[in-house]
Amino acid sequence: MRNNLHDKERLRDLQAIDRRGSSRAPRATMSLREEWLWTAGLVTFDKSTGNLIPTERGEAILDDTGEREWLYSVRPVTPKTPVPRFSSLSHAVWDYERRLGKLPDASDDGDDEVFREEIARFRALLSIVDNDRIWINRSGGRPIVNLITGEEFAGERDELFEWGMRSNQDTALHPLAAEQKADSYFTHHIGFTEQCAGRKIVHADATLDSLTDALRRVAEVSERAFIKGTRLKSGITTLDLTGVTDYEDYEALILSDPFLAGELMYRDGDRWAFLVQEWVDMTFERRFFIVDGITVAHAGCIEEYTPFDHLKGVEDCRMKRHRSDTDILWAAAETKLLGDFARQVGKGIYDRDKAMSEFVLDVAIGPDGQPLIVELNGIRNAGLYASSPGRVIDLLARRRDVWSKAPHARPRRKVQAT
Ligand SMILES: Nc1ncnc2c1ncn2[C@@H]1O[C@H](COP(=O)(O)OP(=O)(O)O)[C@@H](O)[C@H]1O
Ligand SMILES: [Mg+2]
Repeated sequence: MRNNLHDKERLRDLQAIDRRGSSRAPRATMSLREEWLWTAGLVTFDKSTGNLIPTERGEAILDDTGEREWLYSVRPVTPKTPVPRFSSLSHAVWDYERRLGKLPDASDDGDDEVFREEIARFRALLSIVDNDRIWINRSGGRPIVNLITGEEFAGERDELFEWGMRSNQDTALHPLAAEQKADSYFTHHIGFTEQCAGRKIVHADATLDSLTDALRRVAEVSERAFIKGTRLKSGITTLDLTGVTDYEDYEALILSDPFLAGELMYRDGDRWAFLVQEWVDMTFERRFFIVDGITVAHAGCIEEYTPFDHLKGVEDCRMKRHRSDTDILWAAAETKLLGDFARQVGKGIYDRDKAMSEFVLDVAIGPDGQPLIVELNGIRNAGLYASSPGRVIDLLARRRDVWSKAPHARPRRKVQAT
């Protein structure tokens, strides 16, 4: 079923159909938490009482007695447009400013998406964890202080679980170890993921020879190459390989591309500076948030959506055919196909490597109609779209073994309220 969802009425109809159609739900009303615990197979419902009962898997993973403490790294962002009054956003902004201070006023070079995500990340943390377990980290070498008591943090920073958008100054602390690993996972562990990539992918070093060799190998299967720098956010480019045969042709083609020429200079000789890929038409891109191999949240890659557009109580099937399209579709079959795939692959990655304890998995549908992996990223380094970050925090806060994975695990420190 496909429809243009700019039409609000139509969207409501579709949601109603979706609700009626989902005979799976064991109870008519479920809280957000109950809903994801149940979806992830961590609880069942007692039919007579309606109470939650942990499954065996739930027993193994969840720990409700855990007292986790969190570090929220504040990144005040300037919005581009003024916040609409009396909206859920304005309420969240009010709460943010009340606790963390005034945000910069809207300006032309602001960014609404990043602004909304900062607010959404903080709001999700506030709504899920005890507020006196939140420690505030501001830039500029200021001390880490408790959100409620204002007390200065005296412990070791890596006792805290860090949340909030990642900044360039972040150091590699747990669980950022997982964050950084996830960011480079697709580059370094192409073995398993390549089976699910739906396209040829070849590494190239930052030399003309290596890049030419990789392009030649991709040219065996496709006339177009998609090349991505392996340095975080360094860039991507597409090359047309039609009629390119000699080394000189490749050299000219590579050097005429500003991104490739720049990376070759910047990374001069570095190993695995590029992922050279067969170009494939990717449709219905969707992002899955995976914690301990469990898919806790997901959303279509729709740039104009943030968690303030999250749909409650219904599987969000909104997607775009191509990322650059303006039309938003209700794509139930595609959501199911991609969900089944992402759950399987997400668990497979975690089962092979337990250090991949949290990451986002981007998937899409390839030209043959089969799902494929687009890429992998760390959870704090990834846009949220219309997902629910609260679900991610909820499992991070409640899973049993998160702290034992810390490289320098220490006993937890109690917060002394003053
Ligand atoms: N091999 C490919 N062929 C064609 N398009 C691709 C390919 N890989 C990625 N893309 C498209 O380019 C976008 C960006 O690529 P991605 O690997 O996600 O890099 P980034 O780190 O910039 O997000 C993807 O969302 C997808 O639409
Ligand atoms: Mg991407």
